[in-house]
Amino acid sequence: MSSSLSKAGSLSKAGAAQTPAGATSPWWRGGLIYQIYPRSYQDSNGDGVGDLAGIRQRLDYVAALGVDAIWISPFFTSPMKDFGYDVSDYRGIDPLFGTMEDFDALLARAHELGLKVMIDLVLSHTSDQHPWFAQSRTSRDNAKSDWYVWADPKPDGSPPNNWLSIFGGSAWQWDSRRLQYYLHNFLASQPDLNFHCPQVQDALLDVARFWLDKGVDGFRLDTINFYFHDKQLRDNPALPHDQRNASIAPMVNPYNHQDHLYSKTQPENLAFLERLRALTDSYDDRACLGEVGDAQRGLEIMAAYTQGDRRMHMCYAFEFLENRPLTADYVSQVFARLEAVAGDAWPCWAFSNHDVPRFISRWGLSAQAARCLPVLMICLRGTACLYQGEELGLPEAEVPFERLQDPYGIEFWPEFKGRDGCRTPMPWQSDAPQAGFSALREGADTWLPIDPRHTSLAADRQDADPSALLQHYRHLAALRRVYPALAQGSQEAMQAQGPILTFERRLGDQRLFCAFNLSPQAASARLPAGTWRAVASDLGGQTAPDTPNLALDGWHFFIAISED
Ligand code: BGC
Ligand code: MG
Repeated sequence: MSSSLSKAGSLSKAGAAQTPAGATSPWWRGGLIYQIYPRSYQDSNGDGVGDLAGIRQRLDYVAALGVDAIWISPFFTSPMKDFGYDVSDYRGIDPLFGTMEDFDALLARAHELGLKVMIDLVLSHTSDQHPWFAQSRTSRDNAKSDWYVWADPKPDGSPPNNWLSIFGGSAWQWDSRRLQYYLHNFLASQPDLNFHCPQVQDALLDVARFWLDKGVDGFRLDTINFYFHDKQLRDNPALPHDQRNASIAPMVNPYNHQDHLYSKTQPENLAFLERLRALTDSYDDRACLGEVGDAQRGLEIMAAYTQGDRRMHMCYAFEFLENRPLTADYVSQVFARLEAVAGDAWPCWAFSNHDVPRFISRWGLSAQAARCLPVLMICLRGTACLYQGEELGLPEAEVPFERLQDPYGIEFWPEFKGRDGCRTPMPWQSDAPQAGFSALREGADTWLPIDPRHTSLAADRQDADPSALLQHYRHLAALRRVYPALAQGSQEAMQAQGPILTFERRLGDQRLFCAFNLSPQAASARLPAGTWRAVASDLGGQTAPDTPNLALDGWHFFIAISED
């Protein structure tokens, strides 16, 4: 979808994007990615669980949103203890999701529609049902005995060190056959692969090659800083109370009590990421998006993993996935820190995903705020990632304890309700059974309940309503094509002027000024000297003031292009 800027400063669907000379850039850089959680997108066979054929049926909708790419959460063979993030065959499609033919058809259709397809590789760990683990646990001297992280108990029988699992308890699980512990950063049924073993690296690169040969355009790489652990298995130090934060795990989780110096983010990882990048670069136009999870050093790790062009193309950050709201101060601090550690780091920002409460509920947003913040995401330097249902303004779903599926939520309930509330089925048709997500077979039920509040927000209703949030998102996606400075330009002069965040984006001759009032109160900010023409009025952008003093109502914004 291309758009052009009309005289009135609005985006219309006709006409070609204005691309300043030198703006050609790979699709992923400044692109817009749409995350699909396959269990909950569209069910095609009435079993109550979304599947690949269902996703394919909905690709026209996705393409009409104007995004560049989709990232599909795991659909590989899995016992589904962590809903696909526990893989038992990296080259197989789980029957729940369909067949390899279904995947091929999905990929082909996406490509016809001009959508890139990123798949979610979970390389740090496998399922305990993976044949590699089945073999590894048989003895201390089989051919795969060191493919996982095995360690002897301490003399008193307790685990080898103090490392904790994110999902609760020790990161070590006893195995009575080997009389050893094995490491798991997540569930005990997700044993951690030993990346220090060269054969493990080779086997995982073969998995990546298999999918690249199939024609996928890139990978979302799960937990990339968890690949390596400290070979000496040193204890993690305790983290002082005032340095704990809930950016990757809720505060009620003792995982936050440690500084994870040794259980993850080891220096050896850089060389592996370089191998993975070299492989990816031997194919045309592919991209790696690495998820970095660290509550203390996330941005620094992102910088190390994305600087130059030998490691990840981009890293997925947790900074804007937190409970803490996006204030002007906070956003400017995040970018100042990123700039200080590596100006050329390439972030990928998301406000919602399948692991955190949907942002409208998380931040308690008003309807106006819910329109303002996604415009901000589009204007910030980096790739942007939307999560299914975000474009419909879905609030976090209420899921009663009896219907919980997520083991993380079951473990920490009720202080932390887990991740089911953001994983409920997509509402497609307000008047259809199961909101159009599934034509259920006799006796079947949707795997998670559909929140009744979601039904009135269904896609069909919003499609028919020009003022709906869905239409706002469609315009949003066009903004980066009309103004390539937003996609690929430099970001300068970011500052918090009270509650208003101001910054500029520049590419070639294109210079844009952006101001966002990230508070419910009216406030004002200084407009830089020069002649400015307001743009993005279709999105609710404010018109240009006559004075250098820019007054913005609560949760309003102003975007302007320099005419000098
Ligand atoms: C994924 C989670 C998953 C975990 C373990 C994450 O970061 O996004 O959904 O539970 O990795 O694979
Ligand atoms: Mg199904």
